[in-house]
Amino acid sequence: METPEVLLTPYACRLKEKIGDKTAVISVIGLGYVGLPLAVEIAKVGFKVVGLDHNPARSGKVNCGENYIDDVKDDELLQLVQGGMISAYSSFAELPDVDIIVVCVPTPLTINREPNISYIANVAREIALMLRPGNLVTLESTTYPGTTRDVLLPQLQESGLTVGEEFFLAYSPERIDPGNDHHNARNTSRVVGGITPACLEVARMFYSNTVNYKGPRRRREDKLHPDVTPVSSPEVAELSKLYENTYRSVNIALVNELMLLCDRMGIDVWQVIDAAGTKPFGIQIFYPGPGVGGHCIPIDPFYLTWKARQYDFHTRFIELAGEINIEASYHVVRKLTRVLNNAGSCLKGAKIFILGVTYKKDIRDIRESPALKIIDLILREGAGIGYHDPYVPYLKPHEPYTWEFESHPLSVAGLQEADCVLILTGHSGIDYEWVAKHSKQILDTRNATREVQNNREKIIKI
Ligand SMILES: NC(=O)c1ccc[n+]([C@@H]2O[C@H](COP(=O)([O-])OP(=O)(O)OC[C@H]3O[C@@H](n4cnc5c(N)ncnc54)[C@H](O)[C@@H]3O)[C@@H](O)[C@H]2O)c1
Repeated sequence: METPEVLLTPYACRLKEKIGDKTAVISVIGLGYVGLPLAVEIAKVGFKVVGLDHNPARSGKVNCGENYIDDVKDDELLQLVQGGMISAYSSFAELPDVDIIVVCVPTPLTINREPNISYIANVAREIALMLRPGNLVTLESTTYPGTTRDVLLPQLQESGLTVGEEFFLAYSPERIDPGNDHHNARNTSRVVGGITPACLEVARMFYSNTVNYKGPRRRREDKLHPDVTPVSSPEVAELSKLYENTYRSVNIALVNELMLLCDRMGIDVWQVIDAAGTKPFGIQIFYPGPGVGGHCIPIDPFYLTWKARQYDFHTRFIELAGEINIEASYHVVRKLTRVLNNAGSCLKGAKIFILGVTYKKDIRDIRESPALKIIDLILREGAGIGYHDPYVPYLKPHEPYTWEFESHPLSVAGLQEADCVLILTGHSGIDYEWVAKHSKQILDTRNATREVQNNREKIIKI
């Protein structure tokens, strides 16, 4: 997008100066999976960060330099806290004067699977009370198009300040990918949309000073590797994020459907995918699994579905992808039943040992993990459950689940006792060769046993 010369008020010019010489103080609201890594990356480039999390346990930990998010390096956080670059508070009333406020609060679904933007609305009310001329507010939470303009803006205007002149408001979706060793909040490119051209200009300058994208050009016409891509409105930026997540959801559903078909046809879906992946252009590889999890893929597309309904539009791809991805979890239980049946036993009364309960490998997040649904379905069938997950010593899931379990250490006896070992998350660092050696049989939903050489006859893949 061409960005014409923008007339800036003295407040905007002053804020740009403060961003340029890194004297701007940044407040990150919500110190979770997104907010804490972001706070660390912003502090590492030289901005002072004051975090805010209404959970005093989290803000307290940050102030002690104690890390609780996998993507953050313990020593980096400690050094930044000790060096006075990061501090944290648990209420807006305690927050010192800041220049830029970055909002990273949750955007879950209600029980009726509708957007729950109450966290954003609550924070907006609080920010309005502390807003002062020269502030920039950016929203990073994933949400439906229109949230920045229709929810945040009216609240912030309650302060009596004028947007684009006295304060600045923009949306820039966070693109963090928990557990990804290559891409983080610092080296992942950004999209930014402002309420006014001045809002965009100031927000673009802020993100250009915090992001240093090193990846490939996305489009042939891009001359540079853009750190920050400006777009014409917050709505474009909001929808771009939902499109990114919907793209994943739909493609995972496509490959899950292929997995269901391959199961019926007796074809190894993993080989099919690997074969297709040898084509050097025109295909991006996704893998099947026991369903989708986390705070993004099972949730965000439904923000779009909800918004689309207001326009008499039905997002059929999204609904279908949701259905197929949920079906994948039911398929795992059906296949488990079949595996036991073939061994002359049945699910009722069987001992099932689960390996991995997080929604993806090498992280501790269990939110919306398909393992929760699958464990629940297995328990309902009358089977006994044990599990091992190096990242989850105690499994206490969110509603509606009422059971809880403690992780068992991996042991020969534990594996031998189980009628079937069910791999739901393919964590690295587990010796699958050894697991195969000591298990009666394994149902592998992640192809985690791909490299196992011996005892392959015991391994059944979904
Ligand atoms: N987790 C991801 O992989 C990911 C990736 C990209 C975008 N997002 C989006 O980022 C947003 C945040 O997700 P998350 O995974 O970091 O959530 P999270 O639950 O890990 O963290 C949110 C934090 O906000 C705090 N909070 C809630 N209300 C608050 C309030 N009124 N004042 C202060 N603090 C408050 C919570 O205590 C929590 O610590 C969501 O919109 C999510 O969709 C998440």
